[in-house]
Amino acid sequence: MPGPKRKILVTSALPYANGPIHIGHLVEYIQTDIWVRFQKMCGHDCIYICADDAHGTPIMLKAQQEGITPEQLISQVGSEHEKDFSDFHIQFDNYHSTHSEENRAHATKIYERLRDNGHITTKMVVDLYDPQDKVFLPDRFVKGECPKCYAKDQYGDNCEVCGNTYTPADLINPYSSVSGATPIKKENLHYFFTLNDFKDMLHEWIESTSLQPEITNKLQEWFNAGLRDWDISRDAPYFGFEIPDAPGKYFYVWLDAPVGYMASLQQYCDRTGKEFDAYWKVGSDHEVHHFIGKDIAYFHMLFWPAMLHGANYRTPTAVYCHGFLTVDGQKMSKSRGTFIKARTYLDYLNPEYLRYYFAAKLGPDVSDIDLSLNDFRQRVNSDVVGKLVNIASRCSGFIQKHFEGRLTSDFIAGSQQIFDEAVSTNEHIKQLYESRHYSQAMRAIMNHADATNQVIDAHKPWDLAKSEAKMEQVQQVCSFGLNMYRLLIGYLKPVMPELAEKSEAFLNTETCWNDLASGKPLPEGHRIKIFKPLITRIEQQRIEKMIEDSKQDEITSISDPIMDEVIFDDFAKLDFRIAKIIQAEHVEGADKLLKLTLDLGEPTGNIQRTVFAGIKSAYAPDEIEGRLTVVVANLAPRKMRFGTSEGMVLAAGPGGKDIFLLQPDSGATPGMRVK
Ligand code: MSP
Ligand code: ZN
Repeated sequence: MPGPKRKILVTSALPYANGPIHIGHLVEYIQTDIWVRFQKMCGHDCIYICADDAHGTPIMLKAQQEGITPEQLISQVGSEHEKDFSDFHIQFDNYHSTHSEENRAHATKIYERLRDNGHITTKMVVDLYDPQDKVFLPDRFVKGECPKCYAKDQYGDNCEVCGNTYTPADLINPYSSVSGATPIKKENLHYFFTLNDFKDMLHEWIESTSLQPEITNKLQEWFNAGLRDWDISRDAPYFGFEIPDAPGKYFYVWLDAPVGYMASLQQYCDRTGKEFDAYWKVGSDHEVHHFIGKDIAYFHMLFWPAMLHGANYRTPTAVYCHGFLTVDGQKMSKSRGTFIKARTYLDYLNPEYLRYYFAAKLGPDVSDIDLSLNDFRQRVNSDVVGKLVNIASRCSGFIQKHFEGRLTSDFIAGSQQIFDEAVSTNEHIKQLYESRHYSQAMRAIMNHADATNQVIDAHKPWDLAKSEAKMEQVQQVCSFGLNMYRLLIGYLKPVMPELAEKSEAFLNTETCWNDLASGKPLPEGHRIKIFKPLITRIEQQRIEKMIEDSKQDEITSISDPIMDEVIFDDFAKLDFRIAKIIQAEHVEGADKLLKLTLDLGEPTGNIQRTVFAGIKSAYAPDEIEGRLTVVVANLAPRKMRFGTSEGMVLAAGPGGKDIFLLQPDSGATPGMRVK
């Protein structure tokens, strides 16, 4: 029996508009998208809303670095994000930006209501100030020496060299990155949201919302530490919205970020004629579900519900936190090639593999999830290709060849019960999806696939088909198999929508949760279409290429942990030689690489080597031809996408234009050993 139709608003966190979507982000968007597709399949009125988070200092700085305006940056990144999501079959009903008129209107309204209800105060705070340009400096606009490792030119909040975090006041010889002047300390007026006013309300909200136990504990810790006033203002220059009654002061990015959920809904309502207030008014019977990562729980569990309540809006029905993605047991790392961008993944692999794998790993808790690349390949190949799609491929041929594609609803003896069990499990699978126990749902589906394959194996249609007298049984076994396939692919549809769609076309029928629950097989004589391969196995080689490609992406990253220790004897095995770049060429299709032909000189017998180096962003080929550099001469040749690289040239720098090839003294000659 279909229950009452629920009205559900679902959101994922709004990704920052200063960088590409990577597979870590995708944990969240895939988890949410599966839930939304499931709700829609059940016939509920569910809408999935998201937007780019476009404000704040990092976005300003990134735009500056690239020599474009923040507006240009966020519009470029925004369209890349949308394309990435859509290619991963993440289907938003609306995707907007926090840098929008809708968001300005809603953020302003919320702020004004909070202010009028007495929840905004102002205080003087000591900030760093640029005495020359007469501006207050946000952390990232102050640079200086790292107080720990003494690296020069580090930002005011953390050191890119040693990873240490600190405040700008800790920097040695600080300077303003705007004017170069030495910052002074100056009192500055800040606006605060008085979170503690909402202590009781938050306690109540938390009690009435079923939270994950880990989150409940975390909240308890935060309550015990005391709810402090939250600084919501930043000074110009800032990319954001100006505070209405405070010229020159801007909303801190995290104030208007969650309001972006509303802004995107507003845009959706304006487009479709739905009623915004029905979702957000106090006492609304609509549901609001937020999916987020555990790192942003504080904002969504304390500030956001308090802001909503203080501005006379309803509070969320639920906030679900997920854990972080690791790859092969470690934090994603650019140098290991495991910091995989959504786009790089798509260049090599089918998005549904990752959707299935994440589903097979995800539960309702906040524990981290690991993408083990071997397990990924084996699991997808064995479950999806070997178990599930195999049913369709082994049954369809007989039905086409001997029965003009027609099925019977009379299943082979003993198999009806297996079908009925798979039908009656649908309530259970629904509950598993609803409660985000996806891994259990995947296991249940694959168990039914196993049972199906066992029936087929026991009856061996390939043997039966050899005897005219047993043809009826061939049709009965294969019809059972294909009906099972339809049922199971229906259950899997929220996870693998494209496979499901192709399968529906082949089965010549659609699936929705109601027909899955009906228990009726496809009608007698139902005609299927010709089977075409629905999905291929993951090849190890594709994964390797994807990793290789990801290594090319970036030369340095602060988020990379220091790699495993190397003993001196291993280090001493490296043979550094002076080499002359005799030729440098562009590589067709490579954004980052130059192909170098190196001369390793007379002493070693006039050796020439071909080396691919990721220095294209910093050097034009003709500018380095004829130059000397340092090369690791005894590195084993490595097959790369564009050819084999026979060594490595040494270069350093943060990336982009700033990559510096090592240049030996003018007295050096090719072939000399560098010590
Ligand atoms: N802009 C904020 C969210 C504002 S919501 C009003 C933000 N953006 S983010 O781009 O850094 O992250 C977006 C979401 O992706 C967050 O929920 C975050 O937890 C999640 N993830 C980012 N990296 C992740 C992993 N490596 N693993 C799993 N989730 C990760 O935070
Ligand atoms: Zn440092």
